[in-house]
Amino acid sequence: MHFLEFCVMNNIFEEVKDNRLPCDSYAMGSKHPFYHKLKVNYKRNRKQDCTELLDAVAADFCYQDCQNEYWHPEEFSLLYGTRLWQQSSPSQRIILNQLYWVAYYSQIISAEIATIFFNQTSAAGLYAQEDFRLVCDTLDLESSQERAHINAFKIICERVEASLFGRRIFSYPMRSPFSETMIFADTNRLKSWWKKVQLHCFGLLSSDNTFLACQYFTVRGLRTLNGKIVQHQLSRYYQNYVDKNQVPIPSKISYYHFLDESFHFNSSTIISQDVINCLPKPTKFEKMVANLGIRGCQKDHYHFSVAINGIFWYDPALYSAIYQVLTSNIFGMDSREAKEIMLACFTTESEGLYRSYNTHKEAVESYKVYIESLDYIWPSNREMSLMSSNSIDKYLAVQKRLFSKWEKNHENL
Ligand SMILES: [Fe+2]
Ligand SMILES: [Fe+2]
Repeated sequence: MHFLEFCVMNNIFEEVKDNRLPCDSYAMGSKHPFYHKLKVNYKRNRKQDCTELLDAVAADFCYQDCQNEYWHPEEFSLLYGTRLWQQSSPSQRIILNQLYWVAYYSQIISAEIATIFFNQTSAAGLYAQEDFRLVCDTLDLESSQERAHINAFKIICERVEASLFGRRIFSYPMRSPFSETMIFADTNRLKSWWKKVQLHCFGLLSSDNTFLACQYFTVRGLRTLNGKIVQHQLSRYYQNYVDKNQVPIPSKISYYHFLDESFHFNSSTIISQDVINCLPKPTKFEKMVANLGIRGCQKDHYHFSVAINGIFWYDPALYSAIYQVLTSNIFGMDSREAKEIMLACFTTESEGLYRSYNTHKEAVESYKVYIESLDYIWPSNREMSLMSSNSIDKYLAVQKRLFSKWEKNHENL
């Protein structure tokens, strides 16, 4: 063979080898056990997809048909276990139970709008590698399910609020994925702007970085885990109902949603904890961005709310909404009465406050277990030290300070 010919061949060979090496090291490969796990999860999710059921029940929803019933267990009611709950009549308690549903799923709408966007940017980042079609198909299916979830929640929330108050209190018009995910957050214009910048950056980075795309699912898994703690209990109401034809539509929606979300949680876990093993080790920069994402989740979930057990809202941001509920026809309080009861609910210890705090503690413990096997996690994230640093005493101190401030501002309006 001519020397030149040999060199050309060798170069071609080298080129092919160079092209293959990165593919081989990134490729998920259908022989991996987690490829099989992901495939089973995808197939089952498609088979049990609740989209049509959710669309059908949501379209049928008429508030008057179920306005006199509880929609889930009593302890998941707005301001349950507080002075307001103790002094409410049976019919007011039913409304507080339904308003928990409205408030809870209004928050889920916001989280799912963000999920749809990051499913797409992450799918773009993962599809750049060999053999990732299955992951992307899974994410496409999940995004379309989220749109059905949002539609169902939105219909119920809006019809209930229109019927009870004639205006929005917890619900809101469609919003961008770059808005604050927590709808009642400890924020201001500067913080919201900064959050928006961070979300934009993460979207850009994850769409062109396989590790970060993969590790978005750690954060998504943590957030879904938080949802599972409460949604499992909400969904059991449907399961325990004897005559399934008589179940209130919102209870059915809680159940169907929980079924879909169980598959989403599985895929988050497989992608963030198994698929990561077929990627190269993260760089320092990638580790930092992934840890900042988890830190952001700790920040978002730092607070707990006496008004709504299981959603980590910042209660001072909620005062005006609760005031509107109390001064509406349902409770018929005047301004002084409403403020008095709010002072008791938000600034003193109660069974409701302890329940919310315990859910927060349960979340901290389950988050720690969830990220245990990942080796790039900062100690402060591994211990969830920011989230665990909140306490009943700190909660009460914040409420005492900010409630009187809110009251003064309110008088000046
Ligand atoms: Fe969902
Ligand atoms: Fe989901």
